[in-house]
Amino acid sequence: MQNTILITGGSGFIGSNFILQWIASERTPVVNLDKLTYAGNPRNLQRVSSDTRYCFMQGDICDRDLVHSILERHKPRAVVHFAAESHVDRSIRGPDDFIRTNVNGTFCLLEEARAYWMALARQDRELFRFLHVSTDEVYGSLDPHDPPFCETTRYAPNSPYSASKAAADHLVRAYFHTYDVPTLTTNCSNNYGPYQFPEKLIPLIILNARKGKSLPLYGDGQNVRDWLYVEDHCEAVRMVLARGRIGETYNIGGWNEKRNVEVVDTICSILDDLCGNDPVLPHRTLISFVKDRPGHDRRYAMDACKIEHELSWKPRETFESGIRKTINWYLQNEAWVNEVTAGNYRQWIATHYS
Ligand code: NAD
Ligand code: DAU
Repeated sequence: MQNTILITGGSGFIGSNFILQWIASERTPVVNLDKLTYAGNPRNLQRVSSDTRYCFMQGDICDRDLVHSILERHKPRAVVHFAAESHVDRSIRGPDDFIRTNVNGTFCLLEEARAYWMALARQDRELFRFLHVSTDEVYGSLDPHDPPFCETTRYAPNSPYSASKAAADHLVRAYFHTYDVPTLTTNCSNNYGPYQFPEKLIPLIILNARKGKSLPLYGDGQNVRDWLYVEDHCEAVRMVLARGRIGETYNIGGWNEKRNVEVVDTICSILDDLCGNDPVLPHRTLISFVKDRPGHDRRYAMDACKIEHELSWKPRETFESGIRKTINWYLQNEAWVNEVTAGNYRQWIATHYS
């Protein structure tokens, strides 16, 4: 076994932040297996593309022969599994890809990882880890006064996306209990930060506000999400990988519950200060309440006490500091923005918001 780790979905939003952080702070090599769907972007990893510790393989996690050959060739000491279809609205319009990648893809990785792990020498088998990156959405929706989700909260997924992630979580759990594969699962709240594809709320609002386009809030805008800056999530995943107890799940969250309308209003205030020449000012006059997402979960909130107590992880960023960093990143990376908002993106926005 080598010191390499295999990342799936490393060209997406969280995966690319994870790889950038890994290369900056760890010594060991990374192999990134990514299909490069609409959400995967090699430009995210330009900074490390010529680093000898970074290796990119374009491919599908559902391709068992490919996964098998990557495991055999690179002999990783861990698999960190980010690859997924990740956008709830797309899962409502077309769930097929979500079941294929999130359920079948995870199954395929688990099967190949199990065979690979079983063939390792005993010492290596003890070191190997399969870390599955999942979401708070598997727990369903909270009422206003409910306590936050903890690791023992009953699963109650409500969208095709969350149902597919819940199925994957159950498979991971089963591979630990049935086959002893050394798995770890992390369930995280809403991430935001650099490189997030602008179909998701925060980058969509930043980019629309700058262009004087409408800022769509679903329903009454009172739905609550628990926001976490992406680099904090990546650090948490690294800690779980290094020191998490096998077979366990860890909830990761920012202790940052915000109503959507508050998030949008904060972005508008910051943009009013930074971008006084934008076509429509103040930016909040662009807010428009639109038809709600079907089955829209009302509130998510994460109890992240377990990871704090066991691994001493705590988020570094507050929402106020993280959102400023994020807005500045989108203002300073126009070329990236122009590239990802061309082509298919326009089609998605036109169809979804029409
Ligand atoms: P993303 O959509 O930005 O990126 C997904 C990546 O996976 C892309 O690079 C894509 O090309 C790749 N991919 C998709 N299908 C693939 C396949 N069949 N084979 C190989 N690669 C494939 O997603 P993200 O927001 O970075 O989320 C990453 C992971 O974190 C997902 O598992 C998601 O469920 C989970 N998660 C996301 C959030 C969030 O707020 N974004 C929060 C908690 C958990
Ligand atoms: O909670 C973790 C999850 O967070 C991840 O597992 C998902 O991969 C990730 O996409 C995210 O899911 P959400 O559905 O919460 O994120 P999104 O950015 O799509 O929406 C955030 C909130 O904003 C949600 O209540 C829906 C609302 N919204 C979203 C969009 C795109 C709007 O009001 N208007 C919009 O145009």
